[in-house]
Amino acid sequence: MDKKIIIAIDGFSSTGKSTFAKLIAKGLNYIYLDSGAMYRALTYYAMSAGFIGGKGEIKKEELQSSIEVGKLNIWFDLNDKGESQTIMNGVSVEQMIRKSKVSSLVSKIAELDFVRNFVDKKLRAIGENKGVVIDGRDIGTAVFPNAEIKIFMTATEEVRARRRYEELRSKGENDSYESVLEGIRKRDEIDQNREIHPLKKADDALELDNSSMTITEEIEWLNAILKPNFNLEIKF
Ligand code: CDP
Repeated sequence: MDKKIIIAIDGFSSTGKSTFAKLIAKGLNYIYLDSGAMYRALTYYAMSAGFIGGKGEIKKEELQSSIEVGKLNIWFDLNDKGESQTIMNGVSVEQMIRKSKVSSLVSKIAELDFVRNFVDKKLRAIGENKGVVIDGRDIGTAVFPNAEIKIFMTATEEVRARRRYEELRSKGENDSYESVLEGIRKRDEIDQNREIHPLKKADDALELDNSSMTITEEIEWLNAILKPNFNLEIKF
């Protein structure tokens, strides 16, 4: 059997990382790991447990000790349609963690060192046997710096805001295009400028600007790299 590899996909908000990563994982029969979902679940946990005040201020000590005593368990499972679900303490939080309220707070939670340690440990434990596709912000730079394939995804701000806007609408949320664009800008800014593991392209990452690409073209682009180098082909 061919050697299993790690495929790390990083990039800005709403560049289509998760759509791409899920298809790659399915086509290679690999595990898909959504690191952003872990930060989102932690944010949702902090909100539900009252660790985020009315003005968005985070009660860091309370959150940290709650995580450290092991009150929080997050993992992934498949639902009956075979779709990845984020499970927190035994309950699916998949829908809740995608809400705009969580999106607007998540980057502040993701800046905290103990939060990043918690997530990194989980990701490394699942990824140690390889055969994984992971998307996020710091996977190729910090979590799996030895990943065999690193991709850095970009797209214009307008394309990204339009995608997120359509996605929210399809879920029945009615945020305006302007507020979505503003939210994306803010999040990218915090993600790029935080002290620990900021969002940036790894030196050895392949850049993929998918502003005007179809998902089929994206898969073909990656197959052209995987086939000769790893004897792998994403069945699509
Ligand atoms: O909304 P989108 O799918 O683009 O983002 P996400 O992957 O769900 O990630 C949500 C947020 O989690 C990001 O904006 C980052 O603040 C944080 N994150 C991170 O800091 N490091 C990662 N590896 C993944 C996500």
